Amino acid sequence: MIALAGLRPRKVVAQRSPGELDAMAAAGAVVAAALRAVQQAAVAGVSTLSLDQIAESVIRDAGATPSFLGYHGYPASICASVNDRVVHGIPSAAEILAPGDLVSIDCGAILDGWHGDAAVTFGVGTLSAEDAVLAQATRDSLEAGIAAMTPGNRLSDVSHAIETGTHAAEARYGRAFGIVKGYGGHGIGRRMHMEPFLPNEGAPGRGPLLVPGSVLAIEPMLTLGSGDTVVLDDEWTVVTVDGSRAAHWEHTVAATGDGPRILTLG
Ligand code: MF3
Ligand code: CO
Repeated sequence: MIALAGLRPRKVVAQRSPGELDAMAAAGAVVAAALRAVQQAAVAGVSTLSLDQIAESVIRDAGATPSFLGYHGYPASICASVNDRVVHGIPSAAEILAPGDLVSIDCGAILDGWHGDAAVTFGVGTLSAEDAVLAQATRDSLEAGIAAMTPGNRLSDVSHAIETGTHAAEARYGRAFGIVKGYGGHGIGRRMHMEPFLPNEGAPGRGPLLVPGSVLAIEPMLTLGSGDTVVLDDEWTVVTVDGSRAAHWEHTVAATGDGPRILTLG
């Protein structure tokens, strides 16, 4: 037989069938519902632990399972990352939301064996102008990454699009943002974290190919200062080294022949 390297299929980001994408969208809809309920409940005076309880109830009432709970020992169903917390903040009864807090909530659920993973950033009451811009710039970067989820693109084309989206937001809002170093998105399917890792910046044209049915969790994280972080003694909470505030947005997204399909919508 012939075994010319050039005739081997190039490495691709794992392909899901249309039916599997529908199953992932069902899991993603549960995540979206949980995030909506959490955001509605996130008013001044409530604890982040109470938000966790709301998310877990929504997920279980939908017949799904919280994917974060017990993941490498993680103790909750959401990550609640307030102000200088970037990601993986552990909900706590002692953490009471105050007006002007910048809150990122990350949530995952499993339904019929398929995972959805998404995150949103919002304010408690009214945000300061610069925090509002940070949250919007991060969301804009996510949108830019989503737009690159088309068959024929390669993994780092999505990274590059996220980075380009961040720089476009810097120009639009007239200020710099820190791109958080060392964290990024990921493949997702029957497990939450799968190959490949998706950096939030980088040169285009590298890495595995996107085909119809390739799915990635895209999750830009930006700060108002530097992109350097440290993990607290709880071994989970990631905070900015300089104390600057951070934002995090995430969707689970499929590349399809009809363009990008967001799987974590209500
Ligand atoms: N959802 C996060 C991510 O986007 C991971 C959460 S870690 C956990 O990759 F331990 F909290 F689950
Ligand atoms: Co994720």
